Amino acid sequence: PATRPRPVPAVSSVLIDDIGVLATNDTALGAGELGEVAGAALVVESGRVAWCGPRSRAPAADVRVDAAGRCVIPGFVDSHSHIVFAGDRSREFGARMSGRPYEAGGIRTTVAATRGASDTELLGNATRLLREARAQGTTTLEVKSGYGLSVADEERCLRAAARLTGEVTFLGAHVVPPEYEGDPDGYVDLVTGAMLEACAPHARWVDVFCERGAFDEDQARRVLRAGRERGLLPRVHGNQLGHGPGVRLAVQEGAASVDHCTHLADGDVAALADSAAGAGPATVATLLPGVDFSTRQPYPDARALLDAGARVALAGDCNPGSCFTSSMALCIALAVREMRMTPEEAVRAATAGGAQALRRDDVGRLSAGARADIVLLEAPNPVYLAYRPGVPQVAAVWKDGELVAG
Ligand code: NIG
Ligand code: FE
Repeated sequence: PATRPRPVPAVSSVLIDDIGVLATNDTALGAGELGEVAGAALVVESGRVAWCGPRSRAPAADVRVDAAGRCVIPGFVDSHSHIVFAGDRSREFGARMSGRPYEAGGIRTTVAATRGASDTELLGNATRLLREARAQGTTTLEVKSGYGLSVADEERCLRAAARLTGEVTFLGAHVVPPEYEGDPDGYVDLVTGAMLEACAPHARWVDVFCERGAFDEDQARRVLRAGRERGLLPRVHGNQLGHGPGVRLAVQEGAASVDHCTHLADGDVAALADSAAGAGPATVATLLPGVDFSTRQPYPDARALLDAGARVALAGDCNPGSCFTSSMALCIALAVREMRMTPEEAVRAATAGGAQALRRDDVGRLSAGARADIVLLEAPNPVYLAYRPGVPQVAAVWKDGELVAG
């Protein structure tokens, strides 16, 4: 039969009404760190926020959703994950909790399992984790490669990632794979050569693990510069396991973000603050408290970063080794309890902060023109995310205006 044009569904607008507290992240629209509007409403049209403000002034819409006095926040922007992998490392976690240190070398366990898995298996695993994250309020998720570490395996990991998100990161320089043992520079040649060539078309970002046991400063710089020449924007894993050059390299190279920042010298904090005060886009300090929790490390000094004026994001770093959580609410609770961030600072860092770390202005806020990535909480205000740790509080999630959970 001839293909008939499908009926075009009527374009409908949705009014989310009776919002107890709406966190817009726009301080021109509302009070405090989160731009909070009390007694609010929000209108969604064509996947975007068409209007938000006091409900007494809300325009008419086709459909009404009753928030019943509960709180609405922007969907979480989780700017750091490694969800394309196979296998698990629960035994390694168990051993760590009995005193073994976390080492970058554990990554190779996952590399072996990932290389042995089919494309279908890898995509299936990643899809399950993406859905798990989404049901907990994450509407934007960055996804890295980094468990393939050969041209073919990195490329297929990135293909899987690109099926799930637009925020795809090439992390061929995660660790040196076993076949290049003793020849890290040879591996960097591969990463910056044939691997980059195959991977760049699938990615937006290039990342490197600049750390003892992974890549040194010169190697990391080579990776970032080669990536940039192929059109990829830099981000860095740095200062996770000890002091090192990662943060300063990230700032020098104009990276969008340097992630972990667990061990910072005063000069690192100053470099991040300077980059935030400069004319260009800042290098964001992305803190991953779930990693420090799951590897029994100290927590990063968020207070020093914020007080110095650095830009701070919170991200989950879901991966099988250092942190197997997809819960941004857990990261917020840890940041508040262990890193002395206020609840509002933490929620902002998990939404607007993540957006800045991904250089996005269409997510991480709820004001006119933003994507309708919306989380309705089973709570009267955003403080509850830290106030009720471990309790599921996501009542509904919309992504691009579509109800995806709840
Ligand atoms: O962000 N730091 C390097 N990469 C991951 C850990 C990967 C792993 O242990 O498998 C991280 O912590
Ligand atoms: Fe990571």
